[in-house]
Amino acid sequence: MAAKVVVKLGGGLITDKSSLKSPRTDIIDSICNEISHLVSLGNSVIIVHGAGSYGHLLAKKWSLSHGLRKDISEQQREAVKIVRSDMRELSSLVSKSLRDRGIETVTFPPSDWAKNTGDSFEGDVSIFDSFPSNVVPITFGDVVHVDGGAEFGILSGDDLMARISIEIPSVTHCVFLLGDAEGMMDKPPHLEGSKLIELWKSGEIVETEHNSEQDVTGGIELKAERASLISKKVEEVWFINGNCPERLSELLTDGTTIGTKIVS
Ligand code: IPE
Repeated sequence: MAAKVVVKLGGGLITDKSSLKSPRTDIIDSICNEISHLVSLGNSVIIVHGAGSYGHLLAKKWSLSHGLRKDISEQQREAVKIVRSDMRELSSLVSKSLRDRGIETVTFPPSDWAKNTGDSFEGDVSIFDSFPSNVVPITFGDVVHVDGGAEFGILSGDDLMARISIEIPSVTHCVFLLGDAEGMMDKPPHLEGSKLIELWKSGEIVETEHNSEQDVTGGIELKAERASLISKKVEEVWFINGNCPERLSELLTDGTTIGTKIVS
């Protein structure tokens, strides 16, 4: 049976997070190769991607996730424009890579169709369910309009993952591709002896480390929270190493792969 997969390309996977606007084009290409393979087999794929160094650095510098600040409002409004345009640029690298592989794409920048932040943001995610399986819809974490005095805020790709996976009834798989680990680890992945958790139940404690120096959204904690919400509705929710994208096919054909399966 054909699968419907919602996949998140983490910003730390598709960009070098520490240096402004540095895409990892080889990684983007290898993931798009795998996605085009899945699509050629008749599966549907919806892509959500993160920001990495196309969003977090400027968003952090100008406190965009906290909304408008009177003392720096002009610089913030300028930064909002730049981040929105940078995110479209990053997204165009993903869609170009897919198009180079013969896959049609359609991109929905959240600043055009969504407002407010968190997983109860306003926006109709059914748009992602209105295409035949040979067309791949793409969206991404973005700076969106926020009601009230805040004026703007950051809508994370993880919140988009939650709403799309939960509200589109035919979704069979929801996969978070990570940049720095095989899945959810029992300790921060760079620490010696950290081990892969193969099955993670919501509520189980893991030792995490969140790089708030660079990240304006919630890192692995937000992902885990959203993933456990999704697992109440979608059977196959996984964290997989995005440097090994062939694990996506493996998951679809064998029902399992190296990674963490999230259960509710
Ligand atoms: C963040 O989106 C969006 C911006 C900072 C503009 P995500 O939360 O989905 O991004 P990553 O995956 O952490 O980079």
